[in-house]
Amino acid sequence: TNIPVLTIDGPSGSGKGTVSRLVAQKLGWHYLDSGALYRAVGVAAGWGDIDLADPSALVRCTFDTAIEFIEDPETRELRVVVNGVDATDELRTETAGAAASAIAAIPEVRAALKDRQRAFRRPPGLVADGRDMGTVIFPDASFKVFLTASADERAERRYKQLKDKGVSVTFDGLLREILARDARDANRAVAPLRPADDAVHIDTTGQGIDEVVQRVLAIVPAR
Ligand code: C5P
Repeated sequence: TNIPVLTIDGPSGSGKGTVSRLVAQKLGWHYLDSGALYRAVGVAAGWGDIDLADPSALVRCTFDTAIEFIEDPETRELRVVVNGVDATDELRTETAGAAASAIAAIPEVRAALKDRQRAFRRPPGLVADGRDMGTVIFPDASFKVFLTASADERAERRYKQLKDKGVSVTFDGLLREILARDARDANRAVAPLRPADDAVHIDTTGQGIDEVVQRVLAIVPAR
């Protein structure tokens, strides 16, 4: 199709989520948080007491899980509703992230989510945030970005976020989790985290959100 897509891929903590949402708002385009789909399936699996080591049960769970994104009209915050329940806060936990990462390694789960992700491509355009947006889901995207930041900086950002929310965590524990998740995402057989050949790399280490948003917007021609 000729509906423009801007893909923003990268590891957790690279600033992808915040940057993608702001860029989508600036462009007036739709926004896909693909990680939230994997997290939603992870959370639904937890609710259903499904074993994370049982791929066929997880594939069934993927097909059975209803996932809706609803924008709060006042705060513009995106709420994620899983099987009719607002699961936004639960989705953000490390437990949900770890479950998502385990589930995301199952090829049939990824295949089951492909069409759901592509359905977000609607006029006037889409900003798609994830790990394989530019490589697998939207290989024909007009604009591709790969965001990175040092592991230390990513752990530091997570640490601040969680501390602000009153969650007690240690920096070292977070750094270890981030490195473990990176390794799992980069080394899995299907859709490993890697930049598309035609992606523009942006290292966000030491950069503020606004600066990164401007750099991303600079690759989309003025419209
Ligand atoms: O981006 P986020 O941290 O929400 O993603 C959670 C997990 O879902 C990632 O660690 C990754 O394993 C998986 N994921 C994926 N492909 C995507 C988005 C997320 O495999 N496009």
